[in-house]
Amino acid sequence: MNIKHLLTEKTQAAFVALGLPADTNAAVTVSTRVEFGDYQINGAMAAAKLLKTNPRQLAEQLLAQLDLDGIAVKTEIAGPGFINVTLAKGWLAQQLQHASGNARLGVAANTSPQTVVVDYSAPNLAKEMHVGHLRSTIIGDAVVRSLEFWGDKVVRQNHMGDWGTQFGMLIAHLEDKLAAGVDLEQVALADLEDFYREAKKRFDDEEGFADKSRTYVVKLQSGDAHCQKLWQLFIDTSIKHSDEVYQKLNVTLTHADIKPESAYNDMLHGIIDDLKTQQLAVESMGALVVFLHELADKEGNPSPFIVQKTGGGFLYATTDLAACQYRSHTLNADRVIIFTDARQGLHFKQVELVARKAGYLRDATAYDHCPFGTMMGEDGKPFKTRSGGTVKLAELLEEAVVRAKAVVQDKATDLSAEEIDEVARKVGIGAVKFADLSKNRTSDYIFSWDAMLSFEGATAPYLQYAYTRVRSILRRADIADSFTAEFALTEEAEKQLAVKLLRFEETLQQVMKDAQPNLLCNYLYELASLYMTFYEACPILKDGVEPTQRNSRLMLSIFTSRLLKQGLELLGIEVMERM
Ligand code: ARG
Repeated sequence: MNIKHLLTEKTQAAFVALGLPADTNAAVTVSTRVEFGDYQINGAMAAAKLLKTNPRQLAEQLLAQLDLDGIAVKTEIAGPGFINVTLAKGWLAQQLQHASGNARLGVAANTSPQTVVVDYSAPNLAKEMHVGHLRSTIIGDAVVRSLEFWGDKVVRQNHMGDWGTQFGMLIAHLEDKLAAGVDLEQVALADLEDFYREAKKRFDDEEGFADKSRTYVVKLQSGDAHCQKLWQLFIDTSIKHSDEVYQKLNVTLTHADIKPESAYNDMLHGIIDDLKTQQLAVESMGALVVFLHELADKEGNPSPFIVQKTGGGFLYATTDLAACQYRSHTLNADRVIIFTDARQGLHFKQVELVARKAGYLRDATAYDHCPFGTMMGEDGKPFKTRSGGTVKLAELLEEAVVRAKAVVQDKATDLSAEEIDEVARKVGIGAVKFADLSKNRTSDYIFSWDAMLSFEGATAPYLQYAYTRVRSILRRADIADSFTAEFALTEEAEKQLAVKLLRFEETLQQVMKDAQPNLLCNYLYELASLYMTFYEACPILKDGVEPTQRNSRLMLSIFTSRLLKQGLELLGIEVMERM
């Protein structure tokens, strides 16, 4: 059920009756205040401008043609030409009846599934995953889950950075350690971060080491077996680390989704030759560059996009062009979505421009780079450890669970020790995820343990707790899992809850279109809050409540619990029966 869609169709039919084109923008929005009804139709204003007539008059004509019989109980014109629509309780009850009898919770069938490639997480394998990869991983995963729920064909691609120049440095350092007699097993790969730091220090300070590192990159890239063997060690160790993080985080990425930079190696020569043949890439100071006039600076200098370095090495950019070709032509993607931090904005603009010119991206493939802001510490600076180092994701998640345990223990009354551990895990991980997912994707946000672990406000604990409350009401009602009854809405609080329950599809569509899981977070928070208001205003299990009313309220409760669970699952957040 998509009320917005329905009202849009009805409004457009009315526009047609007035002689306006069928695609005139109906501009249907959700009303911001109860006194404006449930939805507003705002299209008369823009249409009047086009027709050069009085908007209020046009709104009146539109209203006369608008057929909302049985759907709305009241429609009225407000301000310069808004039409406020108040939906009928009986109609809402019917829609709920239908929606609740269906596993998709009222979300319509997807009649034209798209193939969507989602590029997310993508850590660099020379290092351990740090908080910078949290956002890409969980925002990407929430969008993936939403698209799959809707019914699109999703191809997850974990574009791991496994091929950069830093590997030459790591291999050279590893080799020296081995030569010094350190046993391979003993080499401290367990702490990649330390290993990387040591190697980097030598690269910066030690004479000859940088050159050696560069030679190793070339050797590695030209298939030298010894280098490849050492390189593989880093890759394996690193993937083991990311596996742990994914599992802790409850994200859906598996080994099968790893399509790292090195997977495109065989395509890179072809891409370069082709860019030369098409005269898109030209030589400039020994490198091969595509100059983009579309992205020229103020002085008119075109933006340079280097596709091959002096000496022949390929770059991150070259790989991304190959990835475009693969995704658009081989996978036949209708849409490619890439989640990285905002600093890569220019890179992806350049990639798309070049890929479109060269034909690596078909016109029919949308290419959406979805940037996100930085996670900040409470001091307002990028989130760091106390000593100023990068925060390892694995450690952050462990801390979340420990902190959640303290909070849960405080609240729990009748949970066993194992149950407390389980709840603490779900609350801790859920809290970190929700705090991140609920922020506007493109803004920076402040990471605050206290805020995210609070039971008040839009947090995972609040929603998880709301879920347990609904479940506990249902347990007390002692009804069978298969319980069904008629929806009958009388009170305003029931109606408000009903409208919200029927807005799931609208929300889902918007989440997928804008790749913005925060819209789903808001929706679930509002749903839980409306349920609480409903529960206070409308007794369910008290003596004296009419059976039809009690049953309808139980149906509202069941639907709310299903929707909360499903919605949180789309965010990758687990619920529990008690806490
Ligand atoms: N590995 C990169 C990083 O950590 C992100 C890769 C994103 N995907 C891509 N196709 N470039 O910044």
